Amino acid sequence: MTTAKPKVLATRHFPPDVEARLAANFDAVLNPEDRLYDGPALIAATAGCDAIMCAAGDPLTADTIAGLPGSVRMIATFSVGYEHVDVAAAARRGIAVSNTPDVLTDATADITLLCLLGAARRAHEGAHMLRTRTWTGWTPTQLMGVHVTGKRLGILGMGRIGQAVADRARAFRMQIHYSNRNRLPPDLEKDAIFHADPEAMLPHSDFLSINAPMSAATRKWVNAERIAKLPPGAIVVNTARGGVVDDEALIAALRSGRLAAAGLDVFEGEPRIHPDYHDIPNAFLIPHMGSATVETRNAMGFKALDNLEAFLLRNQTPPDLVKSS
Ligand code: DGY
Repeated sequence: MTTAKPKVLATRHFPPDVEARLAANFDAVLNPEDRLYDGPALIAATAGCDAIMCAAGDPLTADTIAGLPGSVRMIATFSVGYEHVDVAAAARRGIAVSNTPDVLTDATADITLLCLLGAARRAHEGAHMLRTRTWTGWTPTQLMGVHVTGKRLGILGMGRIGQAVADRARAFRMQIHYSNRNRLPPDLEKDAIFHADPEAMLPHSDFLSINAPMSAATRKWVNAERIAKLPPGAIVVNTARGGVVDDEALIAALRSGRLAAAGLDVFEGEPRIHPDYHDIPNAFLIPHMGSATVETRNAMGFKALDNLEAFLLRNQTPPDLVKSS
């Protein structure tokens, strides 16, 4: 007698190799049209499911989790960030939650440097000139940006991604400052300068890179008061979560020239970003692409599957179990 495979709802259309493994090992409910589920639709779609494979932005709020059928035992998110899953609500229902740490460190650090350089070197304005056929030729004063090499980089959040950003920035001979809950051991800190108080790091940050997760403590952390502590003409880069930035304050500082530029991969309320960003030339903007390489997205999917398979097929603790704080 064959036993039925556990049933897993894929809330999004995942990369082909990931969906192939999901379908081989589980009774997979796929979403080839990549339609977005709201809370009630998600609850309805999980009828008879053992688990949900979800992604950043899916509404796994306390209300949605409370409404899930009793059959759901696990939520495996295809992301390292898990602020879209109410982990405490899941714990109350006895639902395990896993994420995908480590595998997107390099891709996210790469995109952080893209944002840093794109903002500093006015890449958006240059590209726009070519696309709109308005480039009239090289001039000595055209699109002069901010020099990167040798400048000071302040990193808020020196976890895996922050450290990988620092490693890349060292190739530009940047002086690394960082603030983190805990000071790093010397072999990981390397030459970086630790600031126990993140506020104290700001005056030393010609560039400020946000690499801290979204939490109550980091919500709108980059606000007008803190921007005022940065050196005039500083550049803010955010590849973590949009909610860490107070958009009104950042936009005002970009408009006034208090900040030279910003490089942003993430936004509050994605995909409906603050409308004023659309018209700000000194903002280099890309649409949450930090982990968007074939290699990384496959690795994220395989990690989510490693967790689902451990829990649902082998009755083991998922290797990347997220603990309710
Ligand atoms: C994550 O994994 O948290 C990313 O932001 C999604 O790519």
